[in-house]
Amino acid sequence: MSIHGDIKRITTHTLQSMKQHGEKISMLTAYDFSMARIFDDAGIDVLLVGDSASNVMAGHETTLPITLDHMIYHAQSVVRACKRCLVIVDLPFGTYQGNSKEALNSAIRVMKEAGAHGIKLEGGEEVCDSIKRIVGAGVPVMGHLGLTPQSIYKFGTYTVRAKEEEEAEMLLKNAKALQEAGCFSLVLEKIPAALGGLVASQLKIPVIGIGAGGGVDGQVLVMHDMLGITKNFSPRFLRRYLNLYEDISAATTRYISDIKSKDFPNEKEQY
Ligand code: KIV
Repeated sequence: MSIHGDIKRITTHTLQSMKQHGEKISMLTAYDFSMARIFDDAGIDVLLVGDSASNVMAGHETTLPITLDHMIYHAQSVVRACKRCLVIVDLPFGTYQGNSKEALNSAIRVMKEAGAHGIKLEGGEEVCDSIKRIVGAGVPVMGHLGLTPQSIYKFGTYTVRAKEEEEAEMLLKNAKALQEAGCFSLVLEKIPAALGGLVASQLKIPVIGIGAGGGVDGQVLVMHDMLGITKNFSPRFLRRYLNLYEDISAATTRYISDIKSKDFPNEKEQY
């Protein structure tokens, strides 16, 4: 029961209990009110206002340019739409890596100005001090390991991470450090399925994968990929549930043609 009505909200505790009961967690990205309303009504567990907004909403090549103000704008729209799901917001590049005070200030802005339910940030042991400080202020934190797009210029490619034993061991160590620091959940991106399963089995907190196999506790996809709005992006882990690029393109072509041929508007479509 919430103070705003009779819909029971998903909380970080719900996700923890889902892991304990073996119920998989569903998560999608969202950046605007209309799509978030559809996803929430459909019963999604978690919506992530991802910094992938930099790519799919703003058209940048990487996630680096998006600002905290931009993220807060997207998050406000998503939060307004959601009655049930948990809304987590990415802290963008450059708003938490400096020091833990900067990280806390960024997290507080997201919580206060957007009304989000928690934040996500990328990295392992190097961000643990910031995580402790943010969690200490009462803000739930989701970690993110494996392919971390904010570090793309360090790695140089978007290929599968942690295929070698040494990197896999480091990832597991970092995952444990994030849990120890107080993260309520962890995203693992583009790593071998066996490693995803191993991390999920060794951690108490829910592990949500994107290209991390079926052994983790839940799955997340970028909404534009899941709905087939992005066209030239086909990693092995992606399952498309619609081909909206084609559908929207065909509808637009028909619309243009109806206007040109003076078929639209017809008698019934005017006052
Ligand atoms: O920004 C994003 O969309 C993400 C997901 C890929 C997990 O971090």
